[in-house]
Amino acid sequence: MAETASFLVSSNPSPTLPQNITTIRTIAESPGLTSIPSAYTFTPTPHDQVVSETQISLPVIDYSLLTSGTPHQRSKIVHDLGKACQDWGFFLMINHGVPESLVRSMIDGCRGFFDLPEEEKEEYRGKHVLDPIRCGTSFNASVEKVFFWKDFLKILSHPVFHSPSKPAGFSETSLGYSKRAREAARELLKGISESLGLDPNYIEKALNLEQGLQVIAANFYPPCPQPELAMGMPSHSDHGLLTFLIHNGISGLQVQHKGKWVNINGIPNSILVNIGDHLEILSNGKYRSVLHRAMVNNKATRISIAIAHGPSLDTVVSPAPELLEIEKKAAAYIGIKYKEYLEIHQSNKLDEKCNLDRLRI
Ligand code: OGA
Ligand code: NI
Repeated sequence: MAETASFLVSSNPSPTLPQNITTIRTIAESPGLTSIPSAYTFTPTPHDQVVSETQISLPVIDYSLLTSGTPHQRSKIVHDLGKACQDWGFFLMINHGVPESLVRSMIDGCRGFFDLPEEEKEEYRGKHVLDPIRCGTSFNASVEKVFFWKDFLKILSHPVFHSPSKPAGFSETSLGYSKRAREAARELLKGISESLGLDPNYIEKALNLEQGLQVIAANFYPPCPQPELAMGMPSHSDHGLLTFLIHNGISGLQVQHKGKWVNINGIPNSILVNIGDHLEILSNGKYRSVLHRAMVNNKATRISIAIAHGPSLDTVVSPAPELLEIEKKAAAYIGIKYKEYLEIHQSNKLDEKCNLDRLRI
């Protein structure tokens, strides 16, 4: 699944960000821009197969059946959830109870942050990967050979809630959204525990979700004059257990399924959910974190917000001994403290599943 890089790095030896540029927004808005700087140029691989979501049926999980279905409906949805995790590592969650207006305000709030004058974002720029509020451009410009066509804002929202003070109202909105998302993630993880044949509260307890880390990662992809040469985000998997993704309706996300890239828009008002590396470790590879990437376009700004739900920072995550017992299997991954993994994941290059691959036994 992870053998071939989807995009080959161009031969540009060691680019630096064009002088004085701290955001892709500034480059994208420069007057008369018709081509992209060479530091952003990737070479597409000719072998990529991309299919549209209409050609393939994505798993859909009705969240309301987990919380208020009959016992029969619940056991069916737990089964479907397990199947979605095993076959795809990705699904669309519907009837999740997060109000559409809250999702919209969250996206508007993030757009408001990216639109702030550069000097107002300065205090959050760069610094350490585990800083509670951090914004920047590309993914990790200090280690990348070619930069990605995006700006980001990362906020730790649990166990301690943080928020930039601007734009007005953003703090209330993101607190509301992060609470609702966390509630849904914990409920899904109960169903996922059950689908693995474990007690519903297994993941909650084993990974100390009460103190679980929640990271909001907002992505800003402005229009790009040569979208076929640039990348928003390369093929990667996420850290943590489950990531929820919402976006402003502009397409760009592709998920890998059976060797093909599937364009994903979702269905209106659904939340896109994908499995992260730590659920792969805990389930001993039964459920795999899914590879996904973000493409850019030349027409409209795309904004997406990924919210990752993880264990508590000091939890050592390893394959669940109870599961190894049930499945009569040996552990296929070395245990690692979540904090340690996160630091590696965030300070490394974003490259397929390179961090997780190091833990395989
Ligand atoms: C991410 C991510 C995809 C997107 O932030 O981890 O995969 O569509 N985002 O922006
Ligand atoms: Ni991701």
